[in-house]
Amino acid sequence: MRTIMLMNAKGGCGKTTLATNLATWYADEGMKVALADFDPQMSTLDWLEARKAYEGIPDIEAIDAVSGPVRPARGTDLLIMDAPAGIHGKAINKMLLRVDTLILPVLPSPIDMRACNRYLSELLASGRVSKHQTRIGIVANRVKEQTRVYHDLEAYLGHLKIPFITHLRESQNYIRSAEKGLAIFELAPSQVYKDVILWDPLLEWLKI
Ligand SMILES: Nc1ncnc2c1ncn2[C@@H]1O[C@H](COP(=O)(O)OP(=O)(O)OP(=O)(O)O)[C@@H](O)[C@H]1O
Ligand SMILES: [Mg+2]
Repeated sequence: MRTIMLMNAKGGCGKTTLATNLATWYADEGMKVALADFDPQMSTLDWLEARKAYEGIPDIEAIDAVSGPVRPARGTDLLIMDAPAGIHGKAINKMLLRVDTLILPVLPSPIDMRACNRYLSELLASGRVSKHQTRIGIVANRVKEQTRVYHDLEAYLGHLKIPFITHLRESQNYIRSAEKGLAIFELAPSQVYKDVILWDPLLEWLKI
């Protein structure tokens, strides 16, 4: 079973958005996917609950990792884990225990970039990351492509040792789909193609 975690100490950077959209992408591909919510805000579980209103969309197993152990159903191909904000120090090691791949969403703002810098040092100090048991990739989120702050972020991320995988646009499609318990991939293609294409480098990187 592959395991992917979305984590960043910073709140609101897109952990839940990436977790729910990735889970849907792989479930649409026919994989058996479980989505574990480690955040007491329960946004991922709320999203899965809203999803129950639809028939004929792929099933994703819901795991409440706040209240109990993470035990995906037998035969699960992929476990996606949505971490809460504010995980630091020794708690990082504990969170990463079963994680193959860690995706770190970052917002294009000077405050978030500085916080990201500090957080990367913490992550790189974690045993699993330093032993290459967990690999890390960065995704810039809520990007307005022609802004200076995004160009600054791009330059900053380009200089890091951690791979900068892709950027996702600031788009109402994420908000509209999330409130319905859907992913952007489940909205009309004509509405979302500019967003969807930006996922390709991430999906490609995850194949490795
Ligand atoms: N690319 C995007 N374009 C527009 N809105 C977005 C985008 N990504 C996320 N959002 C919105 O930003 C808000 C925060 O995103 P999300 O909940 O995914 O962040 P989070 O890191 O999980 O936050 P928390 O730390 O509170 O768990 C949500 O309202 C979400 O719909
Ligand atoms: Mg969240």
